[in-house]
Amino acid sequence: MKKIIITIDGPAASGKGRIAKYVAKEYNFIHIDSGLLYRKIAKLLIDKKTDLKKSNQVKQILIKNNNFSLRDNNNLRNEHIGRASSIIAKMNFVRNHVNKQQILLTEQKTNKKGFVIDGRDIGSVVFKNADLKLFIDVNPNVRAKRRHKQLIDLGEKSIYAKILKEIKLRDKQDIIRLNSPLVVPKGAHIIDNSKSFNKTLIKINHLIGQIT
Ligand code: C5P
Repeated sequence: MKKIIITIDGPAASGKGRIAKYVAKEYNFIHIDSGLLYRKIAKLLIDKKTDLKKSNQVKQILIKNNNFSLRDNNNLRNEHIGRASSIIAKMNFVRNHVNKQQILLTEQKTNKKGFVIDGRDIGSVVFKNADLKLFIDVNPNVRAKRRHKQLIDLGEKSIYAKILKEIKLRDKQDIIRLNSPLVVPKGAHIIDNSKSFNKTLIKINHLIGQIT
């Protein structure tokens, strides 16, 4: 039976990961966090002391390491890795690599009903024919406040003004890049996630109810 594909795109710290986790649990879907795949590559390159601006060096490391799991890890969630992910995410061959992994993951045999995939280009590039496309919208100040709290809760040092600056910089890098920039995908429903999470879930459940 054909599996359902739901895509969730949006800027950094918009809450798309939390929404994707909810959808996976509530509707028995597999969650693919594409940002995590970029973060894992960025962490590997940093560990290997690669110059991220030198695409040849990045390519060499990527060729040798092409097996990235979907297991999450708190040490991938800091702004340093986030910024590095944004730099390598501009490179076409890095994007092709991550996209290929995502397509392979959705082709696996599974008892689950479908896949929920979150990122920046999922509904616009990777799964253009998805059954449901969502775009999560939250203004940068609210996102910075949430990310700041998240980092403090993880026991990391965080300064709100610095986080806001990082988020704006990451937005800019994701929006102006030539390869698969962050856009509202064609046919996507724009979800305002700046109020309560429950309000967001009411909208999401309504939309999923129309395709399941
Ligand atoms: O979503 P997350 O903050 O974990 O993503 C880290 C970075 O990876 C983003 O800032 C973005 O530059 C990049 N990314 C991307 N396309 C995706 C997912 C993430 O370019 N589909």
